[in-house]
Amino acid sequence: MPSALITGATSGIGLHFARRLAEDGYDLVLVARTRDRLQETAQALHLEHPVQCEVLRADLGRLADCRRVERRLIVRPVDLLVNNAGLGLYDGDFAEHDLEAEDHLLMVNVRAVLRLTHAALGSMLERGEGAIINVSSMASFAPDPNAPTYAASKAWVTSFTEGLRAQVGGSGVRVLALTPGLVPTQFQERAGVDARVPSPFWLDPDEVVDTALADLRAGRGISVPGMAYRAIRVAMQFTPRRGYLPLSDTLQKRLT
Ligand SMILES: NC(=O)c1ccc[n+]([C@@H]2O[C@H](COP(=O)([O-])OP(=O)(O)OC[C@H]3O[C@@H](n4cnc5c(N)ncnc54)[C@H](OP(=O)(O)O)[C@@H]3O)[C@@H](O)[C@H]2O)c1
Repeated sequence: MPSALITGATSGIGLHFARRLAEDGYDLVLVARTRDRLQETAQALHLEHPVQCEVLRADLGRLADCRRVERRLIVRPVDLLVNNAGLGLYDGDFAEHDLEAEDHLLMVNVRAVLRLTHAALGSMLERGEGAIINVSSMASFAPDPNAPTYAASKAWVTSFTEGLRAQVGGSGVRVLALTPGLVPTQFQERAGVDARVPSPFWLDPDEVVDTALADLRAGRGISVPGMAYRAIRVAMQFTPRRGYLPLSDTLQKRLT
């Protein structure tokens, strides 16, 4: 049976990855902070599908916890790693934010992705097979005055993933950056996002996961789910860098 480790597997996009991979017959290792939700998720998946579901409680913002997950990946390698856990900070200005919250964001969104990718990659390269999906964001394609640290953290994820994919090309290991736009999850409430955005911009989480897995199979390096967001991505590629911020500001004002 193939196996996958998913971070942030108890809610939102990570939970949809867990359900879809369980349907596809993957044994799962589920990582998140909240023990009850981990156990409920594992039990529900195991009842619905004949797969093993291991839970690993870890706060990926804490180095010691992150190292425990790394050890799991090194000692018992998996076929697929989904680096999905992440958070945003949209509520208020950078200067007024608690510095520890900003630092925590970077540790989860960046350092954990770096460390878990490193832990999983060695054995994948030795075997000449395996896959890593790093969940980034549309926010990775441009600076965001409403969430500068979040956008910068996701820019790192996309750039890192693209560079790594080029480096391991031909090894048999596939690496993908998933860059969704808005998906209705707990992310918005936790991040303080104003969610009054028209419905065409909301993505179905199942579509996000299906698109990512199809793009991974097709050997693509970046997955942009949804027609609207693919069009926005193309438009962004033709917009000069200095045009991003006024454009993003105008769009935000029109949408909210
Ligand atoms: N939703 C969107 O609109 C959207 C758009 C673009 C990209 N994304 C990205 O998609 C990913 C998943 O977000 P989501 O929308 O599914 O969010 P979500 O519904 O808030 O789920 C986050 C998951 O991550 C876990 N988690 C949070 N902090 C953690 C930590 N420090 N250590 C370990 N696990 C942690 C949560 O469980 P616990 O709280 O129990 O730990 C939960 O399982 C994130 O990387 C996010 O940046 C989301």
